[in-house]
Amino acid sequence: MNKKITVIGSLNYDVILKIPRLPFKGETLTANGATFSAGGKGANQAVQAAKLKTPTYMVGCVGTDASADFLVNTAKEYGVNVDYIRKVPGSSGMGVINAVEDGSVYACIVRGANFEVTKEDVDNAMPILKESGVCILQNEIPVEIIAYAIDKAKEAGCTVVLNAAPAIELPEECLSKVDILVVNEVEAEFYCHEKIDSVEKAKTEIKKMAEKYNNNVIFTLGKDGAVAYENGTIEFIPAMKVDAIETTGAGDSYIGAVSHSIIEGKSLIEACKFATKCSAITVCRMGAQPSMPTLEDVE
Ligand SMILES: Nc1ncnc2c1ncn2[C@@H]1O[C@H](COP(=O)(O)OP(=O)(O)O)[C@@H](O)[C@H]1O
Ligand SMILES: [Mg+2]
Repeated sequence: MNKKITVIGSLNYDVILKIPRLPFKGETLTANGATFSAGGKGANQAVQAAKLKTPTYMVGCVGTDASADFLVNTAKEYGVNVDYIRKVPGSSGMGVINAVEDGSVYACIVRGANFEVTKEDVDNAMPILKESGVCILQNEIPVEIIAYAIDKAKEAGCTVVLNAAPAIELPEECLSKVDILVVNEVEAEFYCHEKIDSVEKAKTEIKKMAEKYNNNVIFTLGKDGAVAYENGTIEFIPAMKVDAIETTGAGDSYIGAVSHSIIEGKSLIEACKFATKCSAITVCRMGAQPSMPTLEDVE
């Protein structure tokens, strides 16, 4: 298998406001503080793969605003190849996260440049897709581009990993063309139309889903762990018991790590075991990209 990864997806500038409570209509509330970070599911997953020393390309778009260079430079600092990130006029993708003291989170997302990714961007990436063993996609770029990218990545010989997040309606053929589908429990409920409230239920639903779409599937279940379906075998991989501090990017860390392991020739279930360790480290530190472990951290 080719030893590189290509991620086609989103880059977001995340603003996290720490607030004591939600403001009332017409009120200007003073926040307790704010943090600014590079995010977006695509960039996060690329950063995790690159931190594990897998040569990783990011394909996507940023805007021409002040955060654009920050997003590109941050990915680059973590070792991601940024040659296929294109600048388009206007705003970069953005996330505004209101983190209330009681632990609840109210978030808004600005699509911005992420929705300017075109078929031509995917075509331009064909040479790197041909060098890649895995292509990772998520639902933060237009659906028609996801569908096109799945076809092109398959044509280039990649194993296609689709993180169907956030949950949106996707053409059934998209789901059946991907090799590995990864969703968390909330997204799994959306696609299965069933409540996933136990590991047993996750096992029942993952089997139905994998058989329906004829692919391999991972359901991540937060602090409980994950259930994986690999060619007819279903396994529960419990999470590590750790004192989680901040879980943003847990799933992205997991997906970057699974993809890294697949490149290394591991089975999907082995890859999930490795990803469990990586994401356990990620949740014990603040932020998404800065908290993701390197290969040395995991060992
Ligand atoms: N509190 C936690 N303690 C240990 N591991 C965790 C914790 N939260 C998440 N993880 C690990 O990260 C993986 C992905 O987390 P999850 O919350 O399911 O994804 P997402 O971030 O997409 O919602 C889990 O399968 C688990 O292995
Ligand atoms: Mg979660």
